[in-house]
Amino acid sequence: MNAAIRAAVRTALHYQIRVFGFKHGYNGIISGDVIEMNRNSVANIIQRGGTILGTARSAEFKTDKGMQKAKKTLSKYRIDGLIAIGGDGTMRGAWEFTKKYRTKIIGLPGTIDNDLFGSDYTIGFDTAVNSALEAVDKIRDTASSLERLFFIEVMGRYSGFIGLAVGLAGGAEDVLIPETPTDIKKLAKQINQNIKKGKKSNIVIVSEGDEAGNAFTIAEKIKGILEEDYRVVVLGYIQRGGAPTALDRILASKLGYAAIYGLKKNMHGCMVGEVNKKIVYTPFEKTYSRKKKIDPDIYTITKILSE
Ligand code: F6P
Repeated sequence: MNAAIRAAVRTALHYQIRVFGFKHGYNGIISGDVIEMNRNSVANIIQRGGTILGTARSAEFKTDKGMQKAKKTLSKYRIDGLIAIGGDGTMRGAWEFTKKYRTKIIGLPGTIDNDLFGSDYTIGFDTAVNSALEAVDKIRDTASSLERLFFIEVMGRYSGFIGLAVGLAGGAEDVLIPETPTDIKKLAKQINQNIKKGKKSNIVIVSEGDEAGNAFTIAEKIKGILEEDYRVVVLGYIQRGGAPTALDRILASKLGYAAIYGLKKNMHGCMVGEVNKKIVYTPFEKTYSRKKKIDPDIYTITKILSE
């Protein structure tokens, strides 16, 4: 997100537009926690994870009162255009606020889950996948040395984009994601067969939001039918931090630039994303009401390659 903030601030300043940064997401707009930003405010941040402005899941912004306060702050600082970076909750909030107060808002897709319609990739996804992958590679060493099965849980509350990417890149034996039904018996049968075949390590990637449960629940369900000892690892918040990958920095820089470009062209009420390598602006409502589809081929390839 820092690379996106840097890009938006520097592009705006290039066009002699004043920029203010609100701390802690919508909460900062409500409380008036704001700083004016210059070139130096965003110096030395492109390589840093997280966000220098802070973020929050704002319950108050969902209320009329909260929105009213936010509107007051925006009027006080004479804000002509707002850039909101975040996931589906951010886009929902932006659209509700736009409908109520006709504020010009452009969204930037910032979520590790990659589950926003209107951008092939979201800012943070590639970094999260690479962090998870690093861990999976390390766990594979124990898995093959001890000939043990591992269930590794990755993030993705409602979507399996991280799971699928980590599964294919990590050479997983199986991937369980919320978008497809999980058949516990079939999974156990396959793992047992793998062991008989002489596979030294078995890694099953589990998206935290899988409909059959999280990694611990699934391991518990399968326990009785397994012929091998197993361990469960939950990767958790290491996926949400760390220096962003080159791909994420490039995407964030392009989109941060495109957000200012869009506002200058009087585009708003939409999120800027990249689809098929082209910058596109998608109406807020579509970004969260349309479901971005997973690529089923990734699953098929993962399974064939781990046979
Ligand atoms: O929505 C993005 C996400 O990273 C999910 O994958 C994860 O479940 C969630 O955030 C964790 O957020 P919180 O710390 O607010 O529970």
